[in-house]
Amino acid sequence: MIALERAPRPLKGDVFVPGDKSISHRSIMFGALAEGTTEVTGFLNSADCLATIDCFKKLGVQIEHALRPTNGVPTITVHGEGLHNFRAPDSTLYTGNSGTTTRLMSGILAAQPFDSMITGDKSIEQRPMKRIITPLSQMGADVKSVMGNDRAPLHFTGGKSLRGINYRSPVASAQVKSCIMLAGLYAEGNTAVYEPALSRNHTEIMLASFGADIHNEIARDGSAVAVLNPGVPLHGIKVNVPGDISSAAYFMAAALIVPDSEILIRNVGVNRTRAGILTVLKQMGADITLMNLDESGEPKADILVKYSELHGNENHQFVIGGKDIPTMIDELPVVAVLASTGDFDTIIKDASELKVKESNRIETVVENLRKMGCDIEPTDDGMIIHGGKPLHGADINTYQDHRLAMSFTIAALAADGITRIIGDECVGISYPSFFGDLQKLM
Ligand code: S3P
Repeated sequence: MIALERAPRPLKGDVFVPGDKSISHRSIMFGALAEGTTEVTGFLNSADCLATIDCFKKLGVQIEHALRPTNGVPTITVHGEGLHNFRAPDSTLYTGNSGTTTRLMSGILAAQPFDSMITGDKSIEQRPMKRIITPLSQMGADVKSVMGNDRAPLHFTGGKSLRGINYRSPVASAQVKSCIMLAGLYAEGNTAVYEPALSRNHTEIMLASFGADIHNEIARDGSAVAVLNPGVPLHGIKVNVPGDISSAAYFMAAALIVPDSEILIRNVGVNRTRAGILTVLKQMGADITLMNLDESGEPKADILVKYSELHGNENHQFVIGGKDIPTMIDELPVVAVLASTGDFDTIIKDASELKVKESNRIETVVENLRKMGCDIEPTDDGMIIHGGKPLHGADINTYQDHRLAMSFTIAALAADGITRIIGDECVGISYPSFFGDLQKLM
C-alpha cells in the first residue's frame, strides 16, 4: 500500500519511460523463432516481459540478460532456434499476468510437434481465450481449454499440420491477430486476419524486419487486414525498443492535472496505432508538442506536455469512440481520471474490450473514481464521466491491475486528503520504477 497526497507544487523536468511492453515481448518471441542472434536494447525489464523470457527458456532457447555497463540500459541477447527446433517443455508454461505472452505463445505452441500446456495467474485464468481457440482450431490445431470454460489453462496436442486461413476477428485485438499470424508462419498457404479497426501493428512491422513476408492492407469493405505468406525463414536482427507510450501516458496526465506543470518525456514510441491518446488529449485542448521525431523503423519522439485546462465541445461534451479506441485502449483508465477533473462530460464508447483486461476496467475505474467523489456511470461499452466535481482521497482497490494503480496515483495528485493505493506493487507488471520516476518530477 502506498499513501499519496495532492502534488504540493507543479511537476517539472524530463523523464525516460521504460521500453515498450508490446515491442519487448515480440523482440524475444520473434528472436527465438529466427535463425541467428537478436540483440534487444531498451528491453522492458518488468514481470510481464520476464514471463515471456521464462517461457522461451523452457522451450530450450538461450537468452542472456545484461545491463549495459555505460548507461544501465537493459540489453537482451536471444540465440534464435529457428521455427522448428524448440524443445518440448518439461512443465506447464507460466505467463504470470501477461495476456500478450499467453495469446501470442499459444499461436506458436499450436504448431509444435510436441504437446504443451500454458497458463497464468488468477487474472489470466479469467480472461477470454475462445478468441484464439476458434481461429487456431480452424487452422487445424488441437487446442483445449483444460477446464472446458474457454479460459486458460490451455492444452496443445502437438504434431498437427496447420493450414492458412482468412479470419474475420470480431474484435480489434493485436493479441488475437498476432497469435494467428504466428501460427500462420507454420501453416500451408497464406493467412489473413481482418479486424474491425486496425489494432497495434507491431507484429506486422517487426516480423517484416525479421524477414517475414507480411503486410497490412485496407480491404474493400474498409476493414483492416494483415496478410502473411509463410515459408520465408526469419533471421536475427538488432531491436531498439522505444519508450512505452502507455507508460508515458501517466506523465502526460500528471502534467495536465497539476497546474503549471511541464514534463518532457523522452524517446517514446509514437506508432499511429498506439498514439490515439495524443490526438484525443490535443482535441481536449492539451498543449502537447512532439519533438525530435524519428521515423526510421518504429516511430519515436520526445513529448513535451504543458499544463492546460481541458475542454469539451460547445455542448460541454467530449466523445471518445470508434477507431480511436484500439489506438488508446490501455490509456483509457488514465484518460478517465483526467476527464473527471475537466468541467465537461466525457463519453467513452465502443470500448467493451475494457471489460476483459487485467481487471474489468469499466467496473474498476468507475468504482474507484466514484470513491474519489466523481459523478460517473458505467455503460455497456464504456462510461460517462460528469467532470468537474473536486476529487478527494480514498482507498483505491487496484485488483492487482497495474494500469489502475498508476492511473489512480495520478488522480491522487489532484485530490484533497490522502489516497491509498492498495496493491501498488502491481506496477511491477509493466513499470517497476514508476513511483521513483514520478517522485523525481515532484
Ligand atoms: C497488446 C494488445 C492489447 C493491449 C495489451 C498489449 C499486445 O490487447 O491491451 O496491453 O501487445 O498485443 P488486445 O490485443 O487484447 O486488445
